[in-house]
Amino acid sequence: MVKKNFKFIDLKYKPKNDLVCLFRISPNRVSMEKAANTVALESSIGTWTKVKSKNYVEKLRAKVFSIKGNWIKVAYPQELFELDNVPNILSSVAGNIFGMKIVKSIRLEDVSFPKSILKSFAGPKYGIKDIRKMMGVKKRPLVGTIIKPKLGLNTKDHAQSAYKSWIGGCDLVKDDENLSSQKFNEFEKRLAKTLEMADKAEKETGEKKAYLVNVTAETKEMIKRAQLAEKQGSKYIMIDILTSGWAALQTLRESNFKMAIHAHRAMHAAFDRNPEHGISMMVISDFARLIGVDQIHIGTGIGKLDGDIKDIEDIAEEISMDEVKANQKRLSQKWFNIKSVFPVSSGGLHPGHVPFLIKHLGKDLVIQAGGGIHGHPSGTEAGAKAMRQAVDAVLKRRTLKKYSETHEELKEALVKWK
Ligand code: 3PG
Ligand code: 3PG
Ligand code: MG
Repeated sequence: MVKKNFKFIDLKYKPKNDLVCLFRISPNRVSMEKAANTVALESSIGTWTKVKSKNYVEKLRAKVFSIKGNWIKVAYPQELFELDNVPNILSSVAGNIFGMKIVKSIRLEDVSFPKSILKSFAGPKYGIKDIRKMMGVKKRPLVGTIIKPKLGLNTKDHAQSAYKSWIGGCDLVKDDENLSSQKFNEFEKRLAKTLEMADKAEKETGEKKAYLVNVTAETKEMIKRAQLAEKQGSKYIMIDILTSGWAALQTLRESNFKMAIHAHRAMHAAFDRNPEHGISMMVISDFARLIGVDQIHIGTGIGKLDGDIKDIEDIAEEISMDEVKANQKRLSQKWFNIKSVFPVSSGGLHPGHVPFLIKHLGKDLVIQAGGGIHGHPSGTEAGAKAMRQAVDAVLKRRTLKKYSETHEELKEALVKWK
C-alpha cells in the first residue's frame, strides 16, 4: 500500500492526454515511493515544503502510476506545458530532478507525448522519403563523408577534398562538428567554394551532390549563415543540436528554410553515457524529431571494433546493437503526420563495416566515414570509391572479399583496415 501522504503517487491512474516519462531512479537513503513522489512533485507543481494550494492547482499534479523495481512512470497533464516549446517541457521533466538529494541517480529513459503536443510541432520538413527524392537515391543507403583533418585545412583544400569525395561517389559531404568560421577557413568563403565544387561534381557525375555546411553559432549569426546557404542554393545545413541548444534549433527549424537539416549530436554522451544517470539518446532523438531535424546521428554499434572483415561479420551477432537499433526505430515511430528522420551512422567507420551496418540497420541509413575515406592509402577519391563499392557489394549480395577481387580501391581499403 502506498502511504497516504504520497500525493503524487496514484497506481490506479491510467494516462490519457498526459505526457508520460519513464525514469530509472536510485533512491538516496529513502524508500522508492518517497523518491518517486518527490520526482513527480518537483517536476510538476510541488516544492520542498508544503505550500498552501488551490484545488484547481492540485488537479495539475503529476502522477506516478507505475513503480517496478527502479523504474517509475510519471504522467504529466498536458496543461502543465506550453505547446511548441521544447525548453519549457524539458525544464519540467528533465530539469531540477537531476540534482535532487533524494536520488543518488536518475535517468530519463523514455518519453511519450500526447497528441496535442505532437501536433504543435512541425517535425522534419523532408524526412527519409523526401531526402531520397531530393538526392535522387531510391533504395541504397546514402554515403557521406566528413572532411578530415577536422580542423585546420584552408578553404581551397577543404573544397578540393569535398570535390574528390563527391566524384569518388559520396552523396553527402559534411563539415565536422567543430568547424564553424575559424580564421583558417571562414564560413562565407568555404560555403561559396564548396558549393561551387558540388555543382561541378554534379555535372561530371550526373548524380546529386550535397554539402552539409555547419551553421552552428550564436542563434542570430546561425540564421544569417543559413540564409546565406539558402541563397547560394545549398540543399542542406548542419547544426550541432546539443551545443547550440534546443531553442536555437527551434529557431532554425521555424525559420522554415527550404534546406534539409542535418543534426550532429556532439555532447550527447554527457547526457546518455552513464546508464544510471542523465537522458537517453532516444529521448534526445525524440525532441530533435519533434522540432524537425531531417537526419540525426544514432551511433554505429561497431566503429571502434578491432578484427578483420571476417571477424566483424562473425561476431556481429554478439555485439550489442540494441541501443543503436532502438534509436533508429524511434526515428520512424508513428507520430500522426510527423515525418521520419533519416538515421546516420558515423564515427570510426570504414568500408569494412558496411555489411554489418546494412545487416543490422537496413538501407534507410546514411553511412558516413571521415578517416575511413580520407585515410585511404590512395587518397580521398579512392576512399570514396571504396565506400561506394562496399555498398554496391552488399546490395549485389557479394562478400567484400569477393567484390574486392575486381575493385582495386575496396581491396586497398580492406588491406589497410584489417
Ligand atoms: C562525424 O562528425 O561524424 C565524424 O567526424 C566522423 O569522423 P570519423 O569517420 O573519422 O570518425
Ligand atoms: C564524430 O563526430 O566523430 C562522430 O560522429 C561522433 O560519434 P557519435 O555518433 O558516437 O557521437
Ligand atoms: Mg566529427
